[in-house]
Amino acid sequence: MRTTTSFVAGALVASVAQAQVVQWDIVKRQTASNKLTRRQGDTFTEVITNEKLRGGYFATCQVGTPAQNLTLQLDTGSSDIWVPSSSASVCEQSGDDGCTFGSFDESASTSFTVVGENEFSISYVDGSSSKGDYIAETFEIGGATLDNMTMGLGLRTDIPYGLVGVGYALNEAIVANTQSASSSYDNLPVLLQKQGLINTNAYSLWLNDLDANTGSILFGGIDTEKYQGDLTRINIYKDSSSQAFTSFTVAMTSLQAVSSSGADSLSSSAFPIPVVLDSGTTFSYLPTDLAEQVWREVGAEYYPQYGVPLLPCNMENSAGYFSFGFGGSGGPVINVTMDELVVSLADGDPYTFPSGQHSGQAACQFGLQNFSTSTYLLGDTFLRSAYVVYDLVNNEIALAPTDFNATDSNVIAFPSEGAQIPSATAAPNQAEVTQSGSLTTPTYGASGGFKDDAASAASMLLPAFDWSRIAVMGVSMSLMMVGSGFFLL
Ligand SMILES: *[C@@H]1O[C@H](CO)[C@@H](O)[C@H](O)[C@H]1NC(C)=O
Ligand SMILES: *[C@@H]1O[C@H](CO)[C@@H](O)[C@H](O)[C@H]1NC(C)=O
Ligand SMILES: *[C@@H]1O[C@H](CO)[C@@H](O)[C@H](O)[C@H]1NC(C)=O
Ligand SMILES: *[C@@H]1O[C@H](CO)[C@@H](O)[C@H](O)[C@H]1NC(C)=O
Ligand SMILES: *[C@@H]1O[C@H](CO)[C@@H](O)[C@H](O)[C@H]1NC(C)=O
Repeated sequence: MRTTTSFVAGALVASVAQAQVVQWDIVKRQTASNKLTRRQGDTFTEVITNEKLRGGYFATCQVGTPAQNLTLQLDTGSSDIWVPSSSASVCEQSGDDGCTFGSFDESASTSFTVVGENEFSISYVDGSSSKGDYIAETFEIGGATLDNMTMGLGLRTDIPYGLVGVGYALNEAIVANTQSASSSYDNLPVLLQKQGLINTNAYSLWLNDLDANTGSILFGGIDTEKYQGDLTRINIYKDSSSQAFTSFTVAMTSLQAVSSSGADSLSSSAFPIPVVLDSGTTFSYLPTDLAEQVWREVGAEYYPQYGVPLLPCNMENSAGYFSFGFGGSGGPVINVTMDELVVSLADGDPYTFPSGQHSGQAACQFGLQNFSTSTYLLGDTFLRSAYVVYDLVNNEIALAPTDFNATDSNVIAFPSEGAQIPSATAAPNQAEVTQSGSLTTPTYGASGGFKDDAASAASMLLPAFDWSRIAVMGVSMSLMMVGSGFFLL
């Protein structure tokens, strides 16, 4: 069964351009959901290969002359803008199956130029892909217009909407495909800086609450009213094969479970864990040894048939939380509360656990999942709780606890190219972070508190699991898949 959830009404919020910064308001949208597919191998990719439509953060922009409106997903895990062509077969389907977020009719644009025929080809970690031409077009976001923006035109794709990748230029698909750094082009944040719209290649991301509809990306500045406490800077890791900065990988150095009954420091043989802060990924993916402790704390059960952990929906009322630490002692700490981590199964119908410790209770998905490769991702279920500043010139990321639903604004622009993140101090001990992980079993002292807090409103008359009908919200992992790396020329 395919089910469709309605789009957020009034979703397209006006953006503002201010001097030296460009703000783009982003909207959380739930796309039509797909049936959760049965896992076959032990790679996560297979679970979502069939996912045609995905969850995530979207924003509107204009492409071409005259301008065509498109709604694109914001992605820190890739570096190309691409738009689906109206002629792509995925866009020729009708109704909710088509490209409901808009597609680009290149034949209707007078500014359309092909700059690389058949040279655009991108694959994401979840197995989805887009292929076609590189084009140069007029691109407008947040009131800023860029002429001659290089982007992909998706002529053959299984994704019915485009993306705006804002990562490092060296992570562009063309660089991976040619294995040559010299083929990189000025992508969106670089061009914003070169055309003088912002001073330096940096931006801040505020996703806001799981239940809120809008967040924003602020190019060229920070907004001190959108976070609590202070921003703390940590280093971005280089890619180990190319020795270049290509992804927003940082060192996650601790994870604590905290509830009314205690606090547990969780362990992993993978600490310090290299994690990619990826806005294009819906959930967060930790090493299995760590994820299993997290699940035990909250009573989540892993369902191997579907490859996801489920837990009672009423756990969203738990006052417990997880503290993520980065960059060693004294580094930034982000607390993620349970209400940000309990995600409904998207078809709207509640399902109850048929048996086991949660028998009779409504089932939800848990936002902290596991992954088997060394690519660990902190996606939207983590990022909503953090204010994140990405500085692509100094190769640093600053983090602070978010201020949910903040309405005030105090924007500070980076003063010049290469300026450090304003109002941020460096994590004091990150130079000492070394490989030191080991797995020890926690006492699970916090576990009882997680569950006590949750209202035990169990025995509603709900249908039991009908696995053939279970649907999950659209899930994306829009981290660009890199093959064998590339060589710096
Ligand atoms: C594009 O979107 C803007 C703002 O949402 C709207 O005013 C305009 O009419 C739209 N243009 C087209 C061609 O749909
Ligand atoms: C457009 O961009 C391309 C790629 O960045 C560049 O080679 C070309 O010179 C630009 N053309 C104009 C007219 O600015
Ligand atoms: C933020 O706003 C949303 C929507 O109004 C609300 O559901 C949510 O509880 C708010 N979050 C906080 C932390 O106040
Ligand atoms: C996050 O949790 C830690 C550990 O319980 C606590 O010391 C800290 O004050 C919390 N931070 C915020 C911003 O609530
Ligand atoms: C996730 O954890 C489960 C349960 O521990 C395990 O069976 C599964 O293989 C793990 N998945 C991945 C992708 O590592």
